[in-house]
Amino acid sequence: MGKKIAILTAGGDCPGLNAAIRGVGKTAIVNHGMTVIGFTAGFSGLIRKEYVELDETKLSGILTLGGTILGTSREKPFKIEKGEAFNDKPGLIKKNYEDLGLDCIVCIGGNGSMKTAHLLSEEGLNVIGIPKTIDNDVFGTEITFGFDSAVEIATEAIDRLHSTANSHQRAMVIEVMGHNAGWIALYAGMAGGGDIILIPEIGYNINKVCREIEDRFSKGKNSAIVVVAEGIQKPDNISAASYIVEKIQQLTSIEARETRLGYVQRGGSPSAMDRILATRYGAYAAELIAKGEYGQMVAVHGGVLSAIPLEEVGGKLSLVDPNHPLITKARNMGVLFGDE
Ligand code: F6P
Repeated sequence: MGKKIAILTAGGDCPGLNAAIRGVGKTAIVNHGMTVIGFTAGFSGLIRKEYVELDETKLSGILTLGGTILGTSREKPFKIEKGEAFNDKPGLIKKNYEDLGLDCIVCIGGNGSMKTAHLLSEEGLNVIGIPKTIDNDVFGTEITFGFDSAVEIATEAIDRLHSTANSHQRAMVIEVMGHNAGWIALYAGMAGGGDIILIPEIGYNINKVCREIEDRFSKGKNSAIVVVAEGIQKPDNISAASYIVEKIQQLTSIEARETRLGYVQRGGSPSAMDRILATRYGAYAAELIAKGEYGQMVAVHGGVLSAIPLEEVGGKLSLVDPNHPLITKARNMGVLFGDE
């Protein structure tokens, strides 16, 4: 008898989740004769024992689809939310795992989900983690799937802002996602030819940002493109883009406009690179299960797949190193990060 495994997708969705589900499921079924089910709505499905059978037919035709066929949620089974009645969710999970005769659960998620995956493995369950998120901030791997697609979408948006900014002689401020990390802003900012890139990892001085914008216009440039990560330092009651635009209007004579890309960065079909990465992660996860190597997250370093113990991942973030080579190259070309 082959093993019986379950897959779930947890946390914010991103392009490539279905490619990863397909990678795990098809490899498990075709190469190892396993039985595969999928819990719906992330850890909620695991608590409520709500699942679907995933056979080869269900896993076909989903490679290019955005979102997740299993649904997702922000459920954190080890956290009791304010006002929530006590409910032994970890206990329910263990019972469901045993009732269903599972050999392993594959948790596809970001930082929070990897922490939950680790806690579940400490409870004695066999768990494998697969890192996903547009933010690219999962510790222990060089890259998460979803990031490349989000960078593509943000880059296209920046490309389109150049012409309208030039026509109206404006400063255009575009806010991208990333939570507390500046990966999307850095990569899309560089790919889209941003003039100023503000990321949470590098403190900025708003006066310097404004001076740079004025300097550009005084040198005869017709526009300034400012790419800001949502997580930069700013007052609580205002978005990053609104704050920077407000300051540019107050401190310079330049007209400024904001664009907040929001959830379009998370939606739609994954890029080819994300399809490949998600498929590789999924297939590798199935191989680890076949070998009985549990309690690990799949990772990639220098293009090579590996596995890292979940206990080394949980609760940590992968942020942009302010001395990242791309930042050095950007600075050498005159791109401003607001700090010098
Ligand atoms: O982690 C992905 C992400 O899209 C972040 O970039 C963003 O801050 C957050 O999720 C938004 O979360 P929610 O889906 O809960 O609005």
